[in-house]
Amino acid sequence: MNVYKDYSLKHFNTFNLDVKTKYYYEVFDENELKDIIKVIQGANNFLILGSGSNILFTKDFDGIVIKYKRNDIEILHESENDVLISADANVIWDDLVNYAVNKNYYGLENLSLIPGTVGAAPVQNIGAYGVEVSNVIEFVEGYKISSGEKKILYKEDCAFAYRDSIFKNEFKNNFIITRVTFRLSKEKKINVSYRDLQNYFKDVSINLITASDIREAVIKIRKSKLPDLALFGNAGSFFKNPEVPITTLELIRKDYTDLPFHKINDKYKIPAAWLIEKCGFKGKRIGNVGTYEKQALVIINYGNATGEEIKNFADEIKKAVYNKFNINLEYEVMII
Ligand code: EPU
Repeated sequence: MNVYKDYSLKHFNTFNLDVKTKYYYEVFDENELKDIIKVIQGANNFLILGSGSNILFTKDFDGIVIKYKRNDIEILHESENDVLISADANVIWDDLVNYAVNKNYYGLENLSLIPGTVGAAPVQNIGAYGVEVSNVIEFVEGYKISSGEKKILYKEDCAFAYRDSIFKNEFKNNFIITRVTFRLSKEKKINVSYRDLQNYFKDVSINLITASDIREAVIKIRKSKLPDLALFGNAGSFFKNPEVPITTLELIRKDYTDLPFHKINDKYKIPAAWLIEKCGFKGKRIGNVGTYEKQALVIINYGNATGEEIKNFADEIKKAVYNKFNINLEYEVMII
Protein backbone atom coordinates (compact mmCIF):
# COMPACT_ATOMS: atom_id res chain seq x y z
CA MET A 1 0.00 0.00 0.00
CA ASN A 2 1.26 3.51 -0.75
CA VAL A 3 0.13 6.46 1.33
CA TYR A 4 0.60 10.08 0.27
CA LYS A 5 -0.24 13.20 2.25
CA ASP A 6 -1.62 16.46 0.80
CA TYR A 7 -1.70 14.85 -2.61
CA SER A 8 -2.79 16.66 -5.76
CA LEU A 9 -5.73 15.13 -7.63
CA LYS A 10 -5.17 17.22 -10.77
CA HIS A 11 -4.48 14.11 -12.84
CA PHE A 12 -7.24 12.15 -11.14
CA ASN A 13 -10.25 14.20 -12.21
CA THR A 14 -11.17 14.87 -15.82
CA PHE A 15 -12.09 18.51 -15.11
CA ASN A 16 -8.32 18.79 -14.38
CA LEU A 17 -8.96 20.69 -11.16
CA ASP A 18 -5.90 21.18 -9.01
CA VAL A 19 -7.42 20.12 -5.70
CA LYS A 20 -5.63 18.24 -2.96
CA THR A 21 -6.68 15.36 -0.79
CA LYS A 22 -5.46 15.13 2.79
CA TYR A 23 -4.53 11.46 2.26
CA TYR A 24 -4.22 9.33 -0.89
CA TYR A 25 -4.04 5.55 -0.45
CA GLU A 26 -3.04 3.26 -3.30
CA VAL A 27 -4.23 -0.22 -2.48
CA PHE A 28 -2.84 -3.16 -4.45
CA ASP A 29 -4.80 -6.23 -3.32
CA GLU A 30 -7.77 -7.39 -1.27
CA ASN A 31 -5.74 -7.90 1.93
CA GLU A 32 -4.60 -4.30 1.83
CA LEU A 33 -8.17 -3.31 1.08
CA LYS A 34 -9.38 -5.10 4.23
CA ASP A 35 -6.82 -3.11 6.25
CA ILE A 36 -7.90 0.19 4.79
CA ILE A 37 -11.56 -0.66 5.43
CA LYS A 38 -10.72 -0.83 9.15
CA VAL A 39 -9.21 2.66 8.88
CA ILE A 40 -12.25 4.19 7.19
CA GLN A 41 -14.89 2.35 9.23
CA GLY A 42 -14.95 5.17 11.78
CA ALA A 43 -14.24 7.98 9.32
CA ASN A 44 -16.91 9.90 7.51
CA ASN A 45 -14.82 11.55 4.85
CA PHE A 46 -13.47 9.12 2.32
CA LEU A 47 -13.83 8.57 -1.37
CA ILE A 48 -13.20 5.59 -3.62
CA LEU A 49 -11.85 6.97 -6.87
CA GLY A 50 -12.00 5.40 -10.33
CA SER A 51 -10.57 7.77 -12.91
CA GLY A 52 -12.49 10.80 -11.74
CA SER A 53 -14.46 11.18 -14.96
CA ASN A 54 -17.79 11.89 -13.32
CA ILE A 55 -16.79 14.06 -10.41
CA LEU A 56 -16.53 17.77 -9.67
CA PHE A 57 -14.37 18.82 -6.73
CA THR A 58 -15.44 22.24 -5.49
CA LYS A 59 -12.70 22.35 -2.85
CA ASP A 60 -9.79 20.39 -1.40
CA PHE A 61 -10.82 17.02 0.00
CA ASP A 62 -10.30 16.88 3.74
CA GLY A 63 -10.25 13.10 4.01
CA ILE A 64 -8.97 9.87 2.49
CA VAL A 65 -9.05 9.06 -1.21
CA ILE A 66 -8.63 5.38 -2.00
CA LYS A 67 -7.50 3.95 -5.31
CA TYR A 68 -7.80 0.19 -5.71
CA LYS A 69 -5.24 -0.79 -8.30
CA ARG A 70 -6.08 -4.30 -9.54
CA ASN A 71 -6.34 -4.54 -13.29
CA ASP A 72 -7.09 -8.08 -14.48
CA ILE A 73 -9.64 -9.37 -16.96
CA GLU A 74 -10.59 -13.04 -16.69
CA ILE A 75 -12.99 -15.34 -18.51
CA LEU A 76 -14.89 -17.13 -15.75
CA HIS A 77 -17.07 -19.42 -17.78
CA GLU A 78 -17.89 -20.06 -21.38
CA SER A 79 -20.82 -21.90 -22.94
CA GLU A 80 -21.89 -22.32 -26.53
CA ASN A 81 -23.90 -19.10 -26.50
CA ASP A 82 -22.39 -16.84 -23.92
CA VAL A 83 -19.43 -16.01 -21.77
CA LEU A 84 -18.93 -14.66 -18.25
CA ILE A 85 -16.11 -12.12 -18.09
CA SER A 86 -14.82 -10.64 -14.83
CA ALA A 87 -12.84 -7.44 -14.71
CA ASP A 88 -11.17 -5.78 -11.74
CA ALA A 89 -12.39 -2.36 -10.67
CA ASN A 90 -9.34 -0.52 -11.98
CA VAL A 91 -9.52 -1.84 -15.54
CA ILE A 92 -10.09 1.07 -17.91
CA TRP A 93 -13.66 0.73 -19.15
CA ASP A 94 -12.84 1.10 -22.82
CA ASP A 95 -10.03 -1.48 -22.58
CA LEU A 96 -12.64 -4.01 -21.48
CA VAL A 97 -14.96 -3.01 -24.34
CA ASN A 98 -12.09 -3.33 -26.79
CA TYR A 99 -11.13 -6.76 -25.38
CA ALA A 100 -14.72 -8.04 -25.70
CA VAL A 101 -15.24 -6.67 -29.21
CA ASN A 102 -11.93 -8.18 -30.40
CA LYS A 103 -13.13 -11.57 -29.23
CA ASN A 104 -16.50 -11.05 -30.96
CA TYR A 105 -18.44 -11.05 -27.70
CA TYR A 106 -21.59 -8.93 -27.95
CA GLY A 107 -23.05 -6.60 -25.33
CA LEU A 108 -20.51 -3.85 -24.59
CA GLU A 109 -19.90 -2.35 -28.04
CA ASN A 110 -22.50 0.46 -27.71
CA LEU A 111 -20.66 1.60 -24.58
CA SER A 112 -17.39 2.21 -26.44
CA LEU A 113 -15.13 5.11 -25.48
CA ILE A 114 -16.97 6.01 -22.27
CA PRO A 115 -14.28 7.36 -19.95
CA GLY A 116 -13.76 5.80 -16.54
CA THR A 117 -13.08 2.45 -14.93
CA VAL A 118 -14.95 -0.84 -14.65
CA GLY A 119 -15.56 -0.30 -10.92
CA ALA A 120 -17.33 2.99 -11.56
CA ALA A 121 -19.55 1.64 -14.33
CA PRO A 122 -22.24 0.05 -12.12
CA VAL A 123 -22.34 2.98 -9.70
CA GLN A 124 -24.09 5.29 -12.12
CA ASN A 125 -25.18 2.51 -14.47
CA ILE A 126 -23.33 4.05 -17.42
CA GLY A 127 -25.29 4.15 -20.62
CA ALA A 128 -25.06 5.27 -24.22
CA TYR A 129 -26.55 4.60 -27.64
CA GLY A 130 -29.49 2.54 -26.38
CA VAL A 131 -27.61 0.32 -23.91
CA GLU A 132 -27.04 0.54 -20.16
CA VAL A 133 -24.33 -1.46 -18.44
CA SER A 134 -26.99 -3.09 -16.23
CA ASN A 135 -28.16 -4.94 -19.38
CA VAL A 136 -25.01 -7.07 -19.27
CA ILE A 137 -23.95 -7.14 -15.62
CA GLU A 138 -24.20 -10.55 -13.97
CA PHE A 139 -22.86 -9.61 -10.53
CA VAL A 140 -20.78 -7.04 -8.69
CA GLU A 141 -18.24 -8.03 -6.01
CA GLY A 142 -16.94 -5.86 -3.24
CA TYR A 143 -16.72 -5.11 0.45
CA LYS A 144 -19.34 -3.64 2.71
CA ILE A 145 -17.46 -1.05 4.71
CA SER A 146 -19.56 -1.05 7.89
CA SER A 147 -19.13 -4.80 8.45
CA GLY A 148 -15.95 -5.44 6.45
CA GLU A 149 -17.61 -8.48 4.83
CA LYS A 150 -17.18 -9.48 1.21
CA LYS A 151 -20.42 -9.44 -0.76
CA ILE A 152 -21.68 -10.47 -4.16
CA LEU A 153 -24.57 -8.46 -5.50
CA TYR A 154 -26.43 -9.99 -8.40
CA LYS A 155 -27.91 -7.65 -10.98
CA GLU A 156 -31.35 -7.86 -9.31
CA ASP A 157 -29.83 -6.71 -5.99
CA CYS A 158 -28.25 -3.60 -7.51
CA ALA A 159 -31.45 -1.49 -7.94
CA PHE A 160 -30.30 -0.32 -11.36
CA ALA A 161 -32.17 2.57 -12.94
CA TYR A 162 -31.31 5.43 -15.31
CA ARG A 163 -27.86 6.63 -14.12
CA ASP A 164 -28.66 5.16 -10.72
CA SER A 165 -28.02 2.10 -8.53
CA ILE A 166 -27.87 0.89 -4.94
CA PHE A 167 -24.26 2.16 -4.86
CA LYS A 168 -25.50 5.77 -5.10
CA ASN A 169 -28.22 5.25 -2.51
CA GLU A 170 -28.46 2.58 0.21
CA PHE A 171 -24.79 1.57 -0.21
CA LYS A 172 -23.45 5.09 -0.72
CA ASN A 173 -20.17 5.45 1.23
CA ASN A 174 -20.61 1.90 2.44
CA PHE A 175 -19.33 -0.28 -0.40
CA ILE A 176 -16.08 -0.74 -2.30
CA ILE A 177 -16.49 -2.44 -5.66
CA THR A 178 -13.56 -4.74 -6.44
CA ARG A 179 -14.74 -6.66 -9.50
CA VAL A 180 -17.62 -6.75 -11.98
CA THR A 181 -18.75 -9.79 -13.95
CA PHE A 182 -20.54 -9.43 -17.27
CA ARG A 183 -22.57 -11.93 -19.29
CA LEU A 184 -21.80 -11.33 -22.95
CA SER A 185 -23.18 -13.11 -25.96
CA LYS A 186 -21.17 -15.20 -28.41
CA GLU A 187 -24.14 -15.04 -30.74
CA LYS A 188 -24.62 -11.88 -32.70
CA LYS A 189 -26.99 -9.55 -30.81
CA ILE A 190 -26.91 -5.95 -31.89
CA ASN A 191 -28.73 -2.81 -30.86
CA VAL A 192 -28.80 -0.02 -33.43
CA SER A 193 -32.09 1.50 -32.23
CA TYR A 194 -30.56 4.82 -31.12
CA ARG A 195 -31.17 7.51 -33.73
CA ASP A 196 -27.50 8.30 -34.37
CA LEU A 197 -26.77 4.61 -35.01
CA GLN A 198 -29.82 4.21 -37.24
CA ASN A 199 -28.55 7.10 -39.34
CA TYR A 200 -25.01 5.76 -39.40
CA PHE A 201 -26.13 2.32 -40.64
CA LYS A 202 -29.02 3.46 -42.83
CA ASP A 203 -27.49 2.01 -46.01
CA VAL A 204 -26.20 -1.21 -44.44
CA SER A 205 -28.08 -4.48 -44.15
CA ILE A 206 -28.58 -5.28 -40.46
CA ASN A 207 -27.25 -8.85 -40.95
CA LEU A 208 -23.87 -7.48 -41.92
CA ILE A 209 -23.33 -5.29 -38.84
CA THR A 210 -20.83 -6.68 -36.29
CA ALA A 211 -19.83 -5.62 -32.76
CA SER A 212 -16.70 -4.16 -34.26
CA ASP A 213 -18.73 -2.05 -36.75
CA ILE A 214 -20.83 -0.72 -33.88
CA ARG A 215 -17.75 0.09 -31.84
CA GLU A 216 -16.31 1.98 -34.81
CA ALA A 217 -19.59 3.86 -35.32
CA VAL A 218 -19.96 4.80 -31.65
CA ILE A 219 -16.36 6.01 -31.51
CA LYS A 220 -16.91 8.20 -34.59
CA ILE A 221 -20.20 9.59 -33.27
CA ARG A 222 -18.79 10.28 -29.79
CA LYS A 223 -15.72 11.99 -31.25
CA SER A 224 -17.91 14.20 -33.43
CA LYS A 225 -20.19 15.27 -30.55
CA LEU A 226 -18.20 15.18 -27.35
CA PRO A 227 -15.10 17.21 -26.50
CA ASP A 228 -11.68 15.53 -26.43
CA LEU A 229 -10.65 15.11 -22.79
CA ALA A 230 -7.06 15.78 -23.75
CA LEU A 231 -8.05 19.26 -24.93
CA PHE A 232 -10.88 20.32 -22.62
CA GLY A 233 -11.48 19.25 -19.04
CA ASN A 234 -15.04 17.95 -18.69
CA ALA A 235 -17.06 15.11 -17.19
CA GLY A 236 -19.42 14.23 -20.03
CA SER A 237 -23.08 15.04 -19.45
CA PHE A 238 -23.32 17.35 -16.48
CA PHE A 239 -27.06 16.82 -15.93
CA LYS A 240 -29.40 13.86 -16.29
CA ASN A 241 -32.09 13.92 -18.94
CA PRO A 242 -35.29 14.70 -17.02
CA GLU A 243 -38.31 12.42 -17.08
CA VAL A 244 -41.51 14.46 -16.99
CA PRO A 245 -45.24 13.71 -16.89
CA ILE A 246 -47.39 14.17 -19.99
CA THR A 247 -48.78 17.48 -18.66
CA THR A 248 -45.30 19.06 -18.61
CA LEU A 249 -44.49 17.65 -22.04
CA GLU A 250 -47.69 19.06 -23.54
CA LEU A 251 -47.18 22.43 -21.94
CA ILE A 252 -43.74 22.78 -23.54
CA ARG A 253 -44.94 21.42 -26.87
CA LYS A 254 -47.53 24.18 -27.09
CA ASP A 255 -44.67 26.65 -27.63
CA TYR A 256 -42.06 24.29 -29.07
CA THR A 257 -43.37 21.70 -31.50
CA ASP A 258 -39.78 20.58 -32.13
CA LEU A 259 -39.31 19.24 -28.57
CA PRO A 260 -37.68 15.79 -28.86
CA PHE A 261 -38.89 13.16 -26.38
CA HIS A 262 -38.84 9.46 -25.67
CA LYS A 263 -41.64 7.64 -23.82
CA ILE A 264 -40.56 5.52 -20.86
CA ASN A 265 -43.43 3.76 -19.06
CA ASP A 266 -45.81 6.59 -18.12
CA LYS A 267 -43.12 9.31 -18.25
CA TYR A 268 -41.43 11.23 -21.07
CA LYS A 269 -37.67 11.62 -21.16
CA ILE A 270 -36.54 14.85 -22.78
CA PRO A 271 -32.97 15.84 -23.62
CA ALA A 272 -31.50 18.24 -21.07
CA ALA A 273 -29.23 19.41 -23.90
CA TRP A 274 -32.27 20.67 -25.80
CA LEU A 275 -33.60 22.57 -22.78
CA ILE A 276 -30.19 24.11 -22.13
CA GLU A 277 -29.80 25.08 -25.77
CA LYS A 278 -33.23 26.75 -25.79
CA CYS A 279 -32.11 28.82 -22.79
CA GLY A 280 -29.27 30.21 -24.91
CA PHE A 281 -26.51 28.30 -23.16
CA LYS A 282 -25.19 26.21 -26.04
CA GLY A 283 -21.55 27.19 -26.57
CA LYS A 284 -21.90 29.97 -23.99
CA ARG A 285 -18.77 30.79 -22.06
CA ILE A 286 -18.34 32.79 -18.88
CA GLY A 287 -14.67 33.28 -18.00
CA ASN A 288 -13.01 29.90 -17.75
CA VAL A 289 -16.20 27.84 -18.00
CA GLY A 290 -18.65 27.11 -20.80
CA THR A 291 -20.82 24.52 -22.48
CA TYR A 292 -19.43 22.63 -25.46
CA GLU A 293 -20.37 24.20 -28.78
CA LYS A 294 -21.57 20.87 -30.20
CA GLN A 295 -23.29 19.44 -27.09
CA ALA A 296 -24.93 21.77 -24.61
CA LEU A 297 -25.06 19.14 -21.86
CA VAL A 298 -21.28 19.10 -21.48
CA ILE A 299 -19.63 21.74 -19.31
CA ILE A 300 -16.00 22.52 -20.08
CA ASN A 301 -13.10 23.85 -18.08
CA TYR A 302 -11.39 26.10 -20.63
CA GLY A 303 -8.25 26.31 -18.56
CA ASN A 304 -7.91 27.57 -15.07
CA ALA A 305 -11.45 27.33 -13.76
CA THR A 306 -12.02 26.39 -10.15
CA GLY A 307 -14.55 23.77 -9.15
CA GLU A 308 -16.63 26.47 -7.58
CA GLU A 309 -16.74 28.46 -10.84
CA ILE A 310 -17.91 25.33 -12.67
CA LYS A 311 -20.58 24.66 -10.03
CA ASN A 312 -21.78 28.28 -10.23
CA PHE A 313 -22.01 28.06 -14.00
CA ALA A 314 -23.99 24.80 -13.72
CA ASP A 315 -26.32 26.46 -11.24
CA GLU A 316 -26.90 29.34 -13.69
CA ILE A 317 -28.00 26.74 -16.24
CA LYS A 318 -30.23 25.02 -13.69
CA LYS A 319 -31.87 28.34 -12.82
CA ALA A 320 -32.42 29.30 -16.46
CA VAL A 321 -34.03 25.94 -17.29
CA TYR A 322 -36.24 26.11 -14.22
CA ASN A 323 -37.36 29.65 -14.99
CA LYS A 324 -38.16 28.89 -18.62
CA PHE A 325 -39.53 25.35 -18.43
CA ASN A 326 -40.32 24.77 -14.76
CA ILE A 327 -38.06 21.70 -14.81
CA ASN A 328 -35.52 21.00 -12.11
CA LEU A 329 -32.41 19.48 -13.73
CA GLU A 330 -30.53 16.97 -11.61
CA TYR A 331 -26.75 16.70 -11.63
CA GLU A 332 -25.39 13.63 -13.32
CA VAL A 333 -21.91 14.48 -12.11
CA MET A 334 -21.06 13.82 -8.46
CA ILE A 335 -20.30 17.11 -6.73
CA ILE A 336 -17.96 17.12 -3.76
N1 EPU B 1 -29.68 18.04 -28.38
C1 EPU B 1 -29.89 19.41 -28.45
N2 EPU B 1 -28.80 20.22 -28.29
C2 EPU B 1 -27.54 19.75 -28.10
C3 EPU B 1 -27.34 18.35 -28.10
C4 EPU B 1 -28.43 17.51 -28.21
O1 EPU B 1 -31.00 19.87 -28.60
O2 EPU B 1 -26.61 20.56 -27.95
C5 EPU B 1 -30.86 17.15 -28.48
C6 EPU B 1 -31.05 16.58 -29.87
O3 EPU B 1 -32.41 16.51 -30.14
C7 EPU B 1 -30.52 15.16 -29.73
C8 EPU B 1 -30.87 14.84 -28.30
O4 EPU B 1 -30.70 16.07 -27.60
O5 EPU B 1 -31.13 14.28 -30.62
C9 EPU B 1 -30.02 13.76 -27.69
O6 EPU B 1 -28.66 14.12 -27.80
P1 EPU B 1 -27.49 13.03 -27.72
O7 EPU B 1 -27.78 11.90 -28.60
O8 EPU B 1 -26.19 13.76 -27.88
O9 EPU B 1 -27.62 12.45 -26.23
P2 EPU B 1 -27.94 13.10 -24.82
O10 EPU B 1 -29.33 12.72 -24.42
O11 EPU B 1 -27.60 14.55 -24.76
C10 EPU B 1 -27.20 10.93 -23.55
C11 EPU B 1 -26.29 10.56 -22.43
C12 EPU B 1 -24.85 10.53 -22.92
C13 EPU B 1 -24.74 9.50 -24.02
C14 EPU B 1 -25.71 9.90 -25.16
C15 EPU B 1 -25.76 8.89 -26.27
C16 EPU B 1 -27.37 11.36 -20.39
C17 EPU B 1 -27.36 12.37 -19.29
N3 EPU B 1 -26.43 11.52 -21.33
O12 EPU B 1 -26.89 12.28 -23.92
O13 EPU B 1 -24.03 10.11 -21.85
O14 EPU B 1 -23.43 9.44 -24.54
O15 EPU B 1 -27.05 10.01 -24.61
O16 EPU B 1 -26.46 7.77 -25.83
O17 EPU B 1 -28.20 10.47 -20.38
C18 EPU B 1 -22.71 10.87 -20.03
O18 EPU B 1 -23.50 10.27 -19.30
O19 EPU B 1 -21.73 11.51 -19.56
C19 EPU B 1 -22.93 10.86 -21.46
C20 EPU B 1 -22.15 11.52 -22.31
